[in-house]
Amino acid sequence: MKITVVGAGAVGASCAEYIAIKNFASEVVLLDIKEGYAEGKAMDLMQTASLNGFDTKITGTTNDYSKTADSDIAVITSGIPRKPGMTREELIGINAGIVKTVSSSLLKHSPNAIIIVVSNPMDTMTYLVHKTTDLPKHRIIGMGGALDSARFKYRLAEVLEAPISDIDGLVIGGHSDTGMVPLIGHATRNSVKVSEFLTDEQMDYVVQETKVGGATLTKLLGTSAWYAPGAAVSSLAHAIACDQKKMFPCSTLLEGEYGLDDICIGVPVILGKNGIEKIVEIELSEAEKTKMKESAEGVKKTNGLLDV
Ligand code: 2OP
Repeated sequence: MKITVVGAGAVGASCAEYIAIKNFASEVVLLDIKEGYAEGKAMDLMQTASLNGFDTKITGTTNDYSKTADSDIAVITSGIPRKPGMTREELIGINAGIVKTVSSSLLKHSPNAIIIVVSNPMDTMTYLVHKTTDLPKHRIIGMGGALDSARFKYRLAEVLEAPISDIDGLVIGGHSDTGMVPLIGHATRNSVKVSEFLTDEQMDYVVQETKVGGATLTKLLGTSAWYAPGAAVSSLAHAIACDQKKMFPCSTLLEGEYGLDDICIGVPVILGKNGIEKIVEIELSEAEKTKMKESAEGVKKTNGLLDV
């Protein structure tokens, strides 16, 4: 299993680190346009191998896509991250050009790769990869929902004063401050609905904090977060590499599912060796359906800014 991660910034390096630590890939190639940067990050990470007990070989390259040849999975993290006060949507101008060039360069050398898109605005970048490559839809996966769901579970555990392993929850919709739809009505603590334990105010707090989860971190860090995004990518890659058939919310092209069409947006999917093996349609309440519809309108508006 060979995995390429494009972009050796904080998110890309964190993806490489978590993939290596989980020890399911034989090789990770980090690629960056900044001279020597990916090589440096790869070397630093490899010097943790004996300490962290992994055998994955991590190498770095300055923009030489021939080194990425025959990757099974390729992760696109490149582009500019948001700064405090910026929305993910504001990054579209610069990032769309980058994601288009990166995906075509990747596919030239790895025509069979499954692509995981991380660059923001993520749902629109995932849609862009659909529009500008001829990859089948099951091989294009937008990473957002897995991260947002992890942040949702973090907030649920906080208010429930419970360990995270007790918590289950799902965030669907667009990966944006206004577009996320945390499914609080479906969230559970050991199969018991969280509404049994929490007040309406507590549940509102969890939903709001989840939606601005990325923005809260951007404000604290001065740039966007990397540990949880890296861990989320590694979980998706692990599910594909080991054909786990695990369910994650991911951004995928919808063709009628959830009443939506011609859009990439977060919905639960089954991930296995072929990438997205199934889109799972769950029963939503009327309020959740309305939120999903509004979220889709927001994503479509951003897609409208693309030159495709
Ligand atoms: C985040 O939410 C990077 O979009 C990513 O942190």
